[in-house]
Amino acid sequence: MDQREQWASRHGFILATIGAAVGLGNIWRFSYVAGENGGAVFLFLYLLCVLFIGLPIVIAELALGRRAQGDVVAAFEHQGDQSLWRYVGWLGVVGAIAILSYYAVIAGWALKYFVGAATGTLWSKAAEGYGGYFKTFIANTGEPIAWQAAMLGASVYIVAGGVHKGIETVNRWLMPLLAIIIVVLAVFSLSLPGSAKGLEFLFAPDWSVMAKPGVYVAALGQAFFSLGVGMAVFVTYGSYMPRNFPLLTSAVGIAIGDTLFAIVAGMAIFPAVFAFDIDPTAGPELTFITLPQIFLQMPGGTLAGAVFFFLLSAAALTSMVSLLEVPVAIAVHRMSLRRWHAAGFAGTIIFLLGIPSAMSFGLLANIKIGRHGILDAIDAGVSNFLLPVAGILIVFYVGWKLERSIALGETELGEGWLGICWYWLVRSVAPLAISVILLQSASAM
Ligand code: TRP
Repeated sequence: MDQREQWASRHGFILATIGAAVGLGNIWRFSYVAGENGGAVFLFLYLLCVLFIGLPIVIAELALGRRAQGDVVAAFEHQGDQSLWRYVGWLGVVGAIAILSYYAVIAGWALKYFVGAATGTLWSKAAEGYGGYFKTFIANTGEPIAWQAAMLGASVYIVAGGVHKGIETVNRWLMPLLAIIIVVLAVFSLSLPGSAKGLEFLFAPDWSVMAKPGVYVAALGQAFFSLGVGMAVFVTYGSYMPRNFPLLTSAVGIAIGDTLFAIVAGMAIFPAVFAFDIDPTAGPELTFITLPQIFLQMPGGTLAGAVFFFLLSAAALTSMVSLLEVPVAIAVHRMSLRRWHAAGFAGTIIFLLGIPSAMSFGLLANIKIGRHGILDAIDAGVSNFLLPVAGILIVFYVGWKLERSIALGETELGEGWLGICWYWLVRSVAPLAISVILLQSASAM
């Protein structure tokens, strides 16, 4: 076996992990879930979930990975045992593939909008209305699949390039650029007359929303999805981490970077939504129907729109890369495939699995799972169920199965008060809180 690859630099590593965290979840998903769930109260609950559940899991995942110096499955069999815990690793692999299958479809929509906005075809469609435009596009069979394939192809290409030359390099370029773009867009949006109402929606809580049963699971699911925890991405990324990288600082950096990105994206989107008197509860279509309308009415909006959809596509790409790396690492280690072959193989399977999602607004629109179409059902099932359940298993493993001294040593927390706090969160608070929220949402269904 050749030498395990490693990240070349600390800040390359941190940018790659932030690239994994920042994606469609921060822009497309955050804006519509926050819009549907009352804005500020949702944001408040979401922040609590990030701080007390998400961040402790990020720390646990990175520590598990760095300790294993192997793939996700190896991370759960490190005590030399062939116990059932291995399947938590496999659950991560299956979950990463499931997420990527539909994520690539939405990323493809973003890419189409970027190309359309940059070449001007998007803006020439204003007369037919963006609702009709978007619905006609996603109801098509070939086109969404072609854009999905393009995004997956790009991810395969980057992952095939390797951890350092592929993943790290792309993130080092893209992530700082995306941070600048989102801040510029927010400033632009805040300068619109009437934007204050958007800020109010996002930051002034209407506490009556707390009585809505769905808001808790929405906040928890969003925290998991947006950070990118639960599916072993950070276990895999942590396994390429040299011993001398600061684990705790990295974890805190991921949580802060991801959260700031979502909040600033909210400050770009909601002021514009309210300035043009548009309903924030539009749902998943907010990004693709509502925003183009807004861009068209804004001075300089066509440029801002092109930049926005570039941001969305690029952020999606760096997250897709992180998800793809999970099965690729497995295939490289367990099937002794070359990286190129592993990436192509995994990419092809994920592409095929994603086709029903791509067609779920057209030919397959009549197939419903519960109330949802195929794509929405997988998204809701994964975020609001699979991720939290995998999260419980991970904290359980680290909190109850791993020895205390190993857990506190690997995370660099030690026996100080921070270490004690983290350990208590991982052993009791996080599994309890996740269980309560899951049960509450199940009973509300
Ligand atoms: N966090 C990414 C986003 O916000 C998506 C993502 C990447 C993800 N890796 C993940 C979600 C692992 C869940 C689990 O778009």
